[in-house]
Amino acid sequence: MNQWDMNNDIERVLYSEKDIAEAAKRVGSQLAADYEGRTPVILSVLKGAVLWTVDVMRYMQYAEVEFIDVSSYHGGIASAGEVDLVVDLQTDIAGRDIIIMEDIVDTGRSLQFMKDLLEARGAKSVKVASLLDKKDGRVVEAHVDYVGFDVPKAFVVGYGLDYKQLYRNLPYVGVLKPSVYNPEHAGLVDTTDITPEH
Ligand code: IMP
Repeated sequence: MNQWDMNNDIERVLYSEKDIAEAAKRVGSQLAADYEGRTPVILSVLKGAVLWTVDVMRYMQYAEVEFIDVSSYHGGIASAGEVDLVVDLQTDIAGRDIIIMEDIVDTGRSLQFMKDLLEARGAKSVKVASLLDKKDGRVVEAHVDYVGFDVPKAFVVGYGLDYKQLYRNLPYVGVLKPSVYNPEHAGLVDTTDITPEH
């Protein structure tokens, strides 16, 4: 077995590359139909939603793309509660139809923060298309209009989703082995204190 292989860190695959490609086609085609005659602004949330964004937008028609980065995780596996605006979008969105592209909606805090921001700036409409919807994780009310998959309450990585900035480039979504974020499980001496919340 090649030790320098990220696949070894994955306990099980939840959504394969093929499953995700089908979901991107389904959501992108639905968006194309729903936004016919309009030119929405796709707002891709860095960094996790980049792969999902490019795959979904291939099925859409006229659309602009912008990026935003909000952070609530700070590199661990549990949400910190506060949301920071890390990278702001670079265009005036007053009067525009916005589609927020998310990798995953968990507590809903990031989404609520972005929706409030966009509404305060005069967006005409705001809809959400998320690869994953972790409904059981909700702390605040947050509705996802276009869902790739309803995901159980587990910490997942791949296809944009990271753990400590890694695994984003896996082509599928999977559950990380607990030994990766809790080295005690693997019998290693590293005592990094990260307690799983999910
Ligand atoms: P929320 O604000 O709690 O809804 O969290 C949204 C953000 O948390 C996502 O955009 C992800 O960056 C991160 N996140 C939530 N759950 C997971 C997970 O299972 N794996 C990786 N990142 C996650």
